[in-house]
Amino acid sequence: MLKAICSAKELTDNSYYDCVSDIIDSRQIQELKSITHHVSTTRFQHCINVSYYSYIVCRRLSLNARSAARAGLMHDLFFYDRREYNSTRSKGQAFHSMKHSLEACANAAEITYITRLERDMIEKHMWPATRSKPSYKETYIITIIDKYCAVLEFCVPRVQKLIRRKTQ
Ligand SMILES: [Fe+2]
Ligand SMILES: [Fe+2]
Repeated sequence: MLKAICSAKELTDNSYYDCVSDIIDSRQIQELKSITHHVSTTRFQHCINVSYYSYIVCRRLSLNARSAARAGLMHDLFFYDRREYNSTRSKGQAFHSMKHSLEACANAAEITYITRLERDMIEKHMWPATRSKPSYKETYIITIIDKYCAVLEFCVPRVQKLIRRKTQ
């Protein structure tokens, strides 16, 4: 079962999957399943969420949905624990915002060919926390979807827990 947060759709038999089927089983992307991200999810699930919703929005707007799906899946392709990084290195969160997107881009290029659009989407997905402005509409979309998914990932488990407690 492969689903995005707040969606009931099975993604493996979806047109979305055709865009990422050649890279999703790579060792590097599968490794993200073992890393916690945004407190209550995995980095793999976060990347699926950003990938799927970026794909949906770009398809609706007749933009490059395939690149949106691929860049979304690899936008956080880094392997350190960000909490550990923040607490042990002097420049903290701001430096992490810049560094991890460049690291993700380099790691993505080891798995597959990255187009200019996909590179822009991965490298600048933290904008405006990172200085250089997006060069494509798709990049603006991933910056919004990334933040939208982060909020969902943080809030949904807490709301579900609250509902469970009230109904018990
Ligand atoms: Fe990120
Ligand atoms: Fe992200």
